[in-house]
Amino acid sequence: MTPDNCPALTAHGCRMPQIGFGTSQLGDCGDLVATALRLGYRHIDTAWKYGSEKGVGAGIRASGVPRSEIFLVTKVSHEYLRAADFARSVDESLKNLQVDHVDLLHVHWPSTDGVPLAETMAALARAKREGLTRHIGVANFNIALLEEARRTCPEPLATLQAEYHPYLDQRRVLDYCREHGMIFTAYCPLARGRLFGDPVLTAIAQEKNRSIAQVVLRWLVQQGNIAPIPRSSNPERIAQNLDVFNFTLTADEMKRIHALARPDGRIANPAGRAPAWD
Ligand SMILES: NC(=O)c1ccc[n+]([C@@H]2O[C@H](COP(=O)([O-])OP(=O)(O)OC[C@H]3O[C@@H](n4cnc5c(N)ncnc54)[C@H](OP(=O)(O)O)[C@@H]3O)[C@@H](O)[C@H]2O)c1
Repeated sequence: MTPDNCPALTAHGCRMPQIGFGTSQLGDCGDLVATALRLGYRHIDTAWKYGSEKGVGAGIRASGVPRSEIFLVTKVSHEYLRAADFARSVDESLKNLQVDHVDLLHVHWPSTDGVPLAETMAALARAKREGLTRHIGVANFNIALLEEARRTCPEPLATLQAEYHPYLDQRRVLDYCREHGMIFTAYCPLARGRLFGDPVLTAIAQEKNRSIAQVVLRWLVQQGNIAPIPRSSNPERIAQNLDVFNFTLTADEMKRIHALARPDGRIANPAGRAPAWD
């Protein structure tokens, strides 16, 4: 798998490799990040909250892949959404990563402390104008928050990062992103392993001679405008998760996977922090 085999999505001048490598829960992940980059990943997702930024930075340096070829994403945690805290958090992330800018900076979750969204959006836009990030986006926002964010942010939002996999119906938010030219980054794309025993996915994977993870990632990328960021601690699975651009699912297979959505399919739903989901 070469980087040429992973297409890019574009939004508001942002060009993002369609599959990224997730690093939550990977801790000191330098070796894994270097492995992912050597296997052809060019999009790495981290966050201040994950505690993986130092490992990501070490992995980038160890990989030998030029920084300019890597689309690097981090996020400011919900505790730091006041303007001064936000700027300090961005500085700390850049120091952890040992880079002078990231390619995409997200607000990780909306405020639960009454911080006005306009204050956070101004801080996010300032980070872009100061060259600390090339593009900006938000994560875990519902449509009402996205509307307010787009209205108050002085710079265009390129992405929404939110949970998406076959057990979760995200049609409303996906339609919103398409309508407003935003890329939808799909986190928990493998539902943290919960869908590996699914009979429908098992049958399709057998028909296609692919793994269930590959079928699910293919279903995501084939919808267009969606960038899944699977995490794996296993080099074979890291390689496998990028190898989804040389087969297609039929319209019927896509439909059968869409039909798996269930009302209780959401995984990341922290009490008291999650907005009213659409
Ligand atoms: N913005 C947010 O609030 C937010 C929230 C959650 C996640 N994220 C981001 O999204 C990324 C992905 O989500 P996630 O880490 O929660 O879960 P995920 O990618 O849906 O699932 C990861 C799990 O799937 C397994 N796996 C990966 N590839 C596999 C394969 N080919 N075959 C079998 N098992 C496989 C991994 O096990 P092995 O390690 O054993 O392969 C791991 O247990 C995160 O790492 C993070 O960067 C963002």
